Amino acid sequence: MESNQFKDFWKSQTTPLHAHKQELWYDRYAQEIKNFLPEQGVVVDAGCGSGEILERLSRYYRKMIGVDYSESMLTQAKQKKYENQVVFFNDSIINIKTFCAYPVDAIYCNGVVQYLSHEEFAHFIADSLSLLSNKGKLIILQIPNVNCRTLFRLGFYQHEKAISFNRILKGMISLTLRDLINFLKTGSTKMEDGIGNWYSIEEVRELVRPLGASVEVHGSVFVNYSYRFHVVISKN
Ligand SMILES: C[S@@+](CC[C@H](N)C(=O)[O-])C[C@H]1O[C@@H](n2cnc3c(N)ncnc32)[C@H](O)[C@@H]1O
Repeated sequence: MESNQFKDFWKSQTTPLHAHKQELWYDRYAQEIKNFLPEQGVVVDAGCGSGEILERLSRYYRKMIGVDYSESMLTQAKQKKYENQVVFFNDSIINIKTFCAYPVDAIYCNGVVQYLSHEEFAHFIADSLSLLSNKGKLIILQIPNVNCRTLFRLGFYQHEKAISFNRILKGMISLTLRDLINFLKTGSTKMEDGIGNWYSIEEVRELVRPLGASVEVHGSVFVNYSYRFHVVISKN
């Protein structure tokens, strides 16, 4: 899917469609993000969706900024209860420099960059870094790891189901046929998986290298998301 197709998809959604949807799980997702954030300051939630994580983190920061290009998601986010000041922008995160003023102490982006093209992703990293205070951090979470893509398509990360050699073999044949039919019909070699764009850790490092920042890589603590990784990018 191209970026516009993702935008069309999200414009009518009202929940972030995480693997788990219960309040307890939102607490856990928020806690995982909090572990990477500074103790205080101004923090941006880039692609805040319906605000479940923003709501949980707002008690720690004097000001938070939530941005999302989906009006329906943002309408939900605005109805949540916040303990401190939260300002919203209905815009794309790639325009972050047009609505955020320097300096901010952290920018986090959870489960969003798969909807950006590689160029947009590079642009988002560069502009976010330019908005950060000296000790600021850009934390990008839940990036689909391209090395895990085939296994994901084979159902490997649905850990509840046992995966046998036969299942892998049947899966490989059916995926190959599906990709071939898609190629014959559309001429496209792009594999559809419902996730969006996948990245390698090396690709993310390559995007950051010219900007002179440092990258720390972490795995997701959630087993359903073990095909994803996080990066913490710090200005040096
Ligand atoms: C899977 S949801 C995640 C929401 C939230 N970050 C969370 O973790 O609960 C993805 C969100 O990213 C938003 N999104 C995707 N691409 C975006 C972009 N370029 N600019 C702003 N929002 C975007 C969608 O509208 C959607 O609300």
